[in-house]
Amino acid sequence: MRKTIVAGNWKMNKTPSEAKALIEELKPLVTSETSDVVFCVPAIDIPAAIEAAKGSNIAIGAENMYFEESGAYTGEIAPNMLTDLGVKYVILGHSERREYFAETDETVNKKVLKAFEHGITPIVCCGETLAQREQGVTIDFVRQQIKIAFQGVSADQAKTAVIAYEPIWAIGTGKVATTEQAQEVCAAIRACIAEVYDEATAEAIRIQYGGSVSAASAPELFAQPDIDGGLVGGASLKPDFGKIVNYK
Ligand code: G3H
Repeated sequence: MRKTIVAGNWKMNKTPSEAKALIEELKPLVTSETSDVVFCVPAIDIPAAIEAAKGSNIAIGAENMYFEESGAYTGEIAPNMLTDLGVKYVILGHSERREYFAETDETVNKKVLKAFEHGITPIVCCGETLAQREQGVTIDFVRQQIKIAFQGVSADQAKTAVIAYEPIWAIGTGKVATTEQAQEVCAAIRACIAEVYDEATAEAIRIQYGGSVSAASAPELFAQPDIDGGLVGGASLKPDFGKIVNYK
């Protein structure tokens, strides 16, 4: 039985002092026995977020990370900088990073391997554009993204990973995928993991849906057999996030 995981992706929002205030506000609303709760915050907010989340069920995650240990990579964040602060999760390969910061399946794969090396759970993002959906290549495209992202990852590591299926056309648009569309792709991702690894790994890995998730859409989406929670953007910055976490 997989435990639901609901993660907020704050994107480039909130200063450190605003992060502290938001976590104080949301802390009592996101308590949950049944879901793991993660707040992925801007790197500069991490110390304030860790401090504010102390004593709660909130785990703090990063929104990105570099795949080298250290060195001349101006502006980048190394994995041990995250673990030193107590970061447990990192979003990797978000479509916004692929679009605006030239991330590729190959760099995402390097980051996934590095995250595991440091004991950070990757939330590996995948998802198609509207044009790809209209061309009928969604499943092939997403399978390819997943296969490359997981190259060199062991079955034991993959079992602990989180995959976020985020159709790009549904991100920040208010246009949520139908439950059938989301379930179909999440099931295809699980089948792909079974092919690459085995049934036990496919059964263990957690797959989220992301893209305009709201308090209204979460209950039906998260009740699908292959959807184990969500990666939530806009709504994770509001008290509604508590309703999403406690969707049941
Ligand atoms: O990582 C989160 C997604 O990009 C979804 O963002 O909930 O604002 O559509 P959204």
